Amino acid sequence: MEIDFLTLFPGMINALLGESIIARAAERGHIKLRAHQIRDFADNARKQVDDYPYGGGAGVLMQAEPLCRCLTHVTAAHGNGRVILLSPQGAVFTQGKAALLAAEGHIILICGHYEGVDERFTEECADEEISIGDYVLTGGEIAACVVADAVCRLIPGVLADESGFQDESFASGLLEYPQYTRPRLWRGRSVPDVLLSGDHAAILRWREEQALRRTSQRRPDLLPGSER
Ligand code: ADE
Repeated sequence: MEIDFLTLFPGMINALLGESIIARAAERGHIKLRAHQIRDFADNARKQVDDYPYGGGAGVLMQAEPLCRCLTHVTAAHGNGRVILLSPQGAVFTQGKAALLAAEGHIILICGHYEGVDERFTEECADEEISIGDYVLTGGEIAACVVADAVCRLIPGVLADESGFQDESFASGLLEYPQYTRPRLWRGRSVPDVLLSGDHAAILRWREEQALRRTSQRRPDLLPGSER
């Protein structure tokens, strides 16, 4: 899996993804992550890449041309990939979308900043827009890292135990059942007896019931047949 990030703040991407599981997967060659500085593609000495919106309004917008030049550089160097703009106007990101993007092999994530991006860049260059939720961040960098993390952990070899992601929340369409580790008794709370029984069929049944109960209590919208 290859992921290119176009950003005004490459340090944010490198800080978030340069540690832990994703960093180790990159070291082992399972994934390739590259953060590119959009400002390097400005056409003026001041390296300005933003300007005021036509029609007025608060703040400034990212200009289309530096973004487009940065994208051309990336595709010339590393090949074409699915081009995704992170913005609150996009379709909301889901586990299913993470799986589709993992199958793409190469994605290019454009991190908007300021009040957004000139619409003509989006029309001309982006394949789609993705939002990570119905709230507004200061920029697309954290959102791009969320997408990259969710995609990369689906790539074979990235997680130590690949059964991990078959078992968990959302892969089954349900929330995950409760889990416990040592000690057996903590602050007067004990681990449910069934988990200590050694009866694997009973444990499986209990987990399925718990997953269903949690989902109906917390996220009934995820249950089959519910309207979304
Ligand atoms: N940029 C600002 N807010 C965002 C969001 N919710 N999702 C993706 N990109 C964003």
